[in-house]
Amino acid sequence: MISATFFSMWRIDSDLGDADAPYDRAAAVYDRLVRSRAYNRLAWSTSPDDYAEFAAAAIASSDGPLLEVAAGSAAATAELHGRARRPTTLVDLSRAMLERAGRRIQATRDDHQIVTAAPIRLVQADLLDLPFPAHGFTTVLGLGFTHLFDDLPAVVGALRRQLAPGGELYLAGLVTQTLRGNGYLRLLHRAGQVARAMTAESLRGALGQPIRFGTIGCMAYATLPAGDDRSPTHTR
Ligand SMILES: C[S@@+](CC[C@H](N)C(=O)[O-])C[C@H]1O[C@@H](n2cnc3c(N)ncnc32)[C@H](O)[C@@H]1O
Repeated sequence: MISATFFSMWRIDSDLGDADAPYDRAAAVYDRLVRSRAYNRLAWSTSPDDYAEFAAAAIASSDGPLLEVAAGSAAATAELHGRARRPTTLVDLSRAMLERAGRRIQATRDDHQIVTAAPIRLVQADLLDLPFPAHGFTTVLGLGFTHLFDDLPAVVGALRRQLAPGGELYLAGLVTQTLRGNGYLRLLHRAGQVARAMTAESLRGALGQPIRFGTIGCMAYATLPAGDDRSPTHTR
């Protein structure tokens, strides 16, 4: 695995070289939108605080190693990871997004003068083909990402493979809860940016057996237990 250092403290591990990921070119725009209260309220009837609250529950759920997939720029999680005591790995397909995540976590640590923090690793990888030994994490978190995938059982299978016995998956993604959200999801689907839009109930079914499931605006939040991870995904 190749490592590239972009700051003295933060490096990104990657087997993907300089793979051109869809979010690379849009990283700055996406990062601004996802943190905008107005955008989240108008487009999705949500608030960035909701994302952070769900992430905080995931991070507080255990002390063991934590994996955040499709972590993006860590817009909702940098503050939490920066303070957390858990060994943490952030994965994303986009190097540009991970660079933003690293800078944001470091800024949190600088602001709060946190010097003895838990290790954080940034890894550029496909969440369907993760380069880690199986069952190494007690929590897997993924925010605002299920709507990117048509084959959700494959996503759940790949992420469950990372879970230690007794661990939990915390997953969130957009569903068709409001007229405006429906229209926006349809547009994004036509532009090839998201999978076919799902209702909350169809997402719940596609995820299998969430132990908790709910929506706030167009964002659905699910928690799943560790379990059968034999879905047909790639192995290493
Ligand atoms: C909608 S953004 C969400 C980012 C972040 N979780 C948040 O809530 O701000 C989706 C992220 O998923 C990443 N992504 C998409 N497909 C992926 C894949 N197969 N493996 C890993 N990351 C992926 C994108 O690069 C992007 O950063």
